[in-house]
Amino acid sequence: MTKVITYGTYDLLHYGHIRLLERAKALGDYLIIGVTADDFDKARGKINVQQSLMERIEAVKATGLADEIIVEEYEGQKIDDIRKYDIDIFTVGSDWVGKFDYLKEYCNVVYLDRTEGISSSEIREEKRQIKLGLVGDASFLNKVYSEASFVNGIHITGLLTSNIERMNEQLRLNRVNSYEELLQKVDAVYIRSLPELHYQQIKDALENGKNVLCESPITLCQDDTKEIFMLAKKKNLIVMEAIKTAYATAFDRLLLLIKGGKIGKIISVDATCTSLKKNRTDWSGFYEWAPTALLPVFEILGKNYKKKIYRHKNEEGNDIFTKIDFQFEHAVASIKVGDGIKSEGELVISGTEGYIYVPAPWWKTDYFEIRYENEEDNKRYFYQLDGEGIRYELVTFVRAIGRGRCLTNISNETSNEISKIMEDCKKGKDTFLI
Ligand code: CTP
Repeated sequence: MTKVITYGTYDLLHYGHIRLLERAKALGDYLIIGVTADDFDKARGKINVQQSLMERIEAVKATGLADEIIVEEYEGQKIDDIRKYDIDIFTVGSDWVGKFDYLKEYCNVVYLDRTEGISSSEIREEKRQIKLGLVGDASFLNKVYSEASFVNGIHITGLLTSNIERMNEQLRLNRVNSYEELLQKVDAVYIRSLPELHYQQIKDALENGKNVLCESPITLCQDDTKEIFMLAKKKNLIVMEAIKTAYATAFDRLLLLIKGGKIGKIISVDATCTSLKKNRTDWSGFYEWAPTALLPVFEILGKNYKKKIYRHKNEEGNDIFTKIDFQFEHAVASIKVGDGIKSEGELVISGTEGYIYVPAPWWKTDYFEIRYENEEDNKRYFYQLDGEGIRYELVTFVRAIGRGRCLTNISNETSNEISKIMEDCKKGKDTFLI
């Protein structure tokens, strides 16, 4: 019996896939199809696969061409599989010519002609093109512009800024003169303006039927944020808070491990984010850092707490440091944030059975450790993080628009609490100046 194996993502299964599988089957008597796991795809740079692993497996199964379906989960698995399943022929499409020649040591390698004119990427791209407008003055928007090119289904078609010199040439071409003009041109907006402007800009966008991805904090007042979410719900539109860390795979897994009880009951969450940036001209370090530091606190411990806020201003009267101590019913938390002081930017989550340590800069996390009393039980977790997370943020936004609901690690409750902290800091509530 001749055994054949082939691998692929098979997202939005198309006739190019089916033709390949038919020919793969014809090469032998028994066909094994390896379908790539979501994490494996991410690690090799395929970030916006539309269907889940189960959906893709079901679609492959429905072709009736597979004698067996397996999941491809790790680099180097092909050699293991070829040995394990006693494979005679490994085959893939001609887009991979030469790439798998190293497998010739283990079995025959056959490259089949790829079907011209169709691919999953093209189908994803055609499904729906979301026209995105950028709003703000920070050079950070250049990053968003370049990261958007990695994401199928979204195109930047507008830019509203009063700081055109900071934008790169390509992005400048999209410039419009007013917010009204921008809203007419796009399906969605990415807001990175001063936090004071968010509320009105989000509201106008929603009133005009546009989806919103807004840099955190959504607004500077809890009631305003609540109102925004209610309006979005009423209009069936998406409002998503843009905290890059929330969309990083490592952060996502960290939360799942905590929810799964890996370090027992959580007693303390401590997050530090600081920087010494010169020439900051857009918004204060507090707005920039506090939402990120607050994210693990509220996502892990919820929203019933008492707090004390300690703030320090420099001689010019600028806020350069804020520490907030939280007391929950059975846990505590603290954040230290600032632009103008420097500290170790780590995240430590302490539990009754062990702790999670995310080294600095934890907000760009691609790695963390779970540490126990017995060192031998410690475990390290590594994940891919491309484009500082902006890419994943955009993918999540595209998906949310497609599905009509948000699937992120920033719950509406967390967004509300972040706005509440902004509001209390502004009003000086529970605040001590040091
Ligand atoms: N394939 C093919 N002809 C096509 C598209 C894919 O023969 N038009 C083959 C690939 O060479 C591979 C298998 O189908 O052997 C699975 O490919 P996959 O990467 O899942 O599909 P693509 O459409 O190439 O996906 P993407 O656009 O995301 O790269």
